[in-house]
Amino acid sequence: MSTIAVVPGSFDPVTLGHLDVVARSARIFDEVHVLVVHNPGKTAFIPLEERVALVERSVAELDLGEHVVVTSWSEGLLVDYCVNVGARVLVKGIRSQVDVAYETPMAIMNRSLAGVETVFLLPDPAHALVSSSLVRQVASLGGDVTPYVPGAVAEYLRREEDTR
Ligand code: PNS
Repeated sequence: MSTIAVVPGSFDPVTLGHLDVVARSARIFDEVHVLVVHNPGKTAFIPLEERVALVERSVAELDLGEHVVVTSWSEGLLVDYCVNVGARVLVKGIRSQVDVAYETPMAIMNRSLAGVETVFLLPDPAHALVSSSLVRQVASLGGDVTPYVPGAVAEYLRREEDTR
């Protein structure tokens, strides 16, 4: 039986850390759905459609194969998407104890709601300290984010700053 995994996130914006998790998931699972999801606990910085476009461009550049698709979900529970597409696994990157504390209740809830398991991947040390929120802060204060994000995102953030 083939295993479909979902790599969900706000991707606000997508970082090299996210892409590392996607690339490694693509080597483990038969099908990988990179899913841009609305996080009800956060106000998005980049509109959903733009986040999807940036993730699509960045994932396409990795050339991981046709078993990796990018899509979005804002209709309800994340596990509803999983059930709809027959995915039994969620993949999350874990950088620190803070991430463990944030992700554990969601993993338990998602398994309780729909039997969907969560697999945690440890980061490549090169990306262990990268987060979307820090990238947004560095960009908004005029810093160079090119070491932390794919080219398409660096370009997008530069354009946004120029129009402010
Ligand atoms: O990148 P983020 O913001 O850490 O991603 C969090 C996300 C979007 C995966 C999380 O907020 C989520 O699962 N949202 C969907 C809402 C949901 O299903 N909630 C109930 C189960 S935890």
